[in-house]
Amino acid sequence: MDATPAVRLDGVSKQFGDSYAVRDVNLDIEAGEFFSLLGPSGCGKTTSLRMIGGFTDPTAGSVLLAGEDVTDLPPNRRNVNTVFQSYALFDHLSVADNVAFGLRRKGVGKDEIGERVGEMLELVQLDGHALRKPGTLSGGQRQRVALARALVNRPAVLLLDEPLAALDLKLRRQMQVELKQIQREVGITFVFVTHDQDEALTMSDRLAVMSEGRVEQCGTPEDVYEHPASRFVASFMGTSNLVDGVYRDGKVVLEQGPALPVGRREGVGDGSSVSVSVRPEKIWLSDFEPGMSVLRGVIRETVYSGATTTYLIEVAPGVTLSALEQNTARARMEDRWNGGETVEFGWRPEHCLLLD
Ligand SMILES: Nc1ncnc2c1ncn2[C@@H]1O[C@H](COP(=O)(O)OP(=O)(O)OP(=O)(O)O)[C@@H](O)[C@H]1O
Ligand SMILES: [Mg+2]
Repeated sequence: MDATPAVRLDGVSKQFGDSYAVRDVNLDIEAGEFFSLLGPSGCGKTTSLRMIGGFTDPTAGSVLLAGEDVTDLPPNRRNVNTVFQSYALFDHLSVADNVAFGLRRKGVGKDEIGERVGEMLELVQLDGHALRKPGTLSGGQRQRVALARALVNRPAVLLLDEPLAALDLKLRRQMQVELKQIQREVGITFVFVTHDQDEALTMSDRLAVMSEGRVEQCGTPEDVYEHPASRFVASFMGTSNLVDGVYRDGKVVLEQGPALPVGRREGVGDGSSVSVSVRPEKIWLSDFEPGMSVLRGVIRETVYSGATTTYLIEVAPGVTLSALEQNTARARMEDRWNGGETVEFGWRPEHCLLLD
């Protein structure tokens, strides 16, 4: 395998006046990876992407593509294409001419253009729509034209800035799967910007979670979800129960409540103030394992959502944990808990994480 990263950000910052849009970001994106930049609005995702594409100059640090320092090169001298959120298609041109546009400008021969455009339209499943105008296509189809138009140039890296944001939820889910399949087929490195954690989790080989211009954590979806490095990552990635307390002897003691078993932690002294996080789906409500600490709480709310039911359990005054149960074939409706009932719950100590 080629060890040179497709994209390297080396101590990259971007300042606008006194404020940092991106602050000292170090990232290696491997060739062929589906890599996502994930974070809330304003955290610096677009600015990072624009610096990779060459549309914005960093105020510090360097951008490397396939080992070459491109910090001072303009966009057209970088082997990179971008799909912007607004697809920016030419409405007066047919789908095929939109896709052919970049190749014509480069002076590629007519026959080759015909062949490559045909291949691309097949890849994005628009081969029957070559002569249509973009204005007559659905949102998902327009999105695929934009993708074909970028991929036809065979860039080493494709940058995508929230390309699915304009689509409704169902189409978006469908396009997520298609986009990932297309990426596997063409083997091009994708750098994908999104503020949707589900999207980043399902599509990425690896992702970077950003907050206020910095990378908080970088890893596989499983790393980031199961082992969040900070309170921010734990709360941003899906639903997390976050509780503050004092660490003592393998447990976190709440102010007016029980001690939550978290297992022993190196480097955390007795008496330290800590936060703990436990995912709703890691909480057991029955069939406890031997040795599991079992606590008690009162059901405050039962939320039925079809495939799952969420219980809000009050464990101490003002402290509720949410617990999620799958409504599997074996689960019986009449076994569900109701508000006001006292329940027992527990977790494996390793599923209750200590955060700084
Ligand atoms: N040209 C600019 N001049 C001044 N400030 C800017 C400029 N571009 C971006 N910023 C600021 O930099 C920060 C990061 O912006 P950026 O567009 O990278 O965020 P983002 O993560 O893409 O957000 P969103 O999810 O809303 O698109 C924001 O605070 C933004 O206001
Ligand atoms: Mg943005």
